[in-house]
Amino acid sequence: MNKDLLKGLNDQINMELEAGYIYLGMATYLDESDFPGFSHWMRAQTREELSHAMRLFEFLQERGEHIVLPAIKEVSTEYKSVEDVWEKALDHEKQVTASIDKLMKKAHEVKDYSAIGMLQWFVDEQVEEEDTFGAALAKIQMAEGKPSALLMLDSKFGKREG
Ligand SMILES: [Fe+2]
Ligand SMILES: [Fe+2]
Repeated sequence: MNKDLLKGLNDQINMELEAGYIYLGMATYLDESDFPGFSHWMRAQTREELSHAMRLFEFLQERGEHIVLPAIKEVSTEYKSVEDVWEKALDHEKQVTASIDKLMKKAHEVKDYSAIGMLQWFVDEQVEEEDTFGAALAKIQMAEGKPSALLMLDSKFGKREG
């Protein structure tokens, strides 16, 4: 595999794990702020990000490439509000989308067709992720400052499956 593409895919494993870790930090804040439903939602998101990292890991492993696993950055467990959490989460998803797009561009440049196929799943997934986080943020913004509305949303978010 092209060296730059391999480096990029390796880095993406780290970025997915970092996203999961960021969301776990958010789950911590939400739990400590007595929002078990929002916390449950973020924990589920952590597991989803771990599955993204594993998808990349397994792809590189199947291709017989050498995998490197550098340290994952420390993350915050301090946020200002539920809205602040989802604003930052949506921002992070946008960074991930930009990173995936860059990888896809590189894969096309070096004509790595299996990487292109694998990355297409991530391109589609990021459309879904930004939509999910954006829709959640919109609901939270409507409820912010109204405790009863926010608590109702909390219990709704607590029903997230998977
Ligand atoms: Fe992801
Ligand atoms: Fe994500």
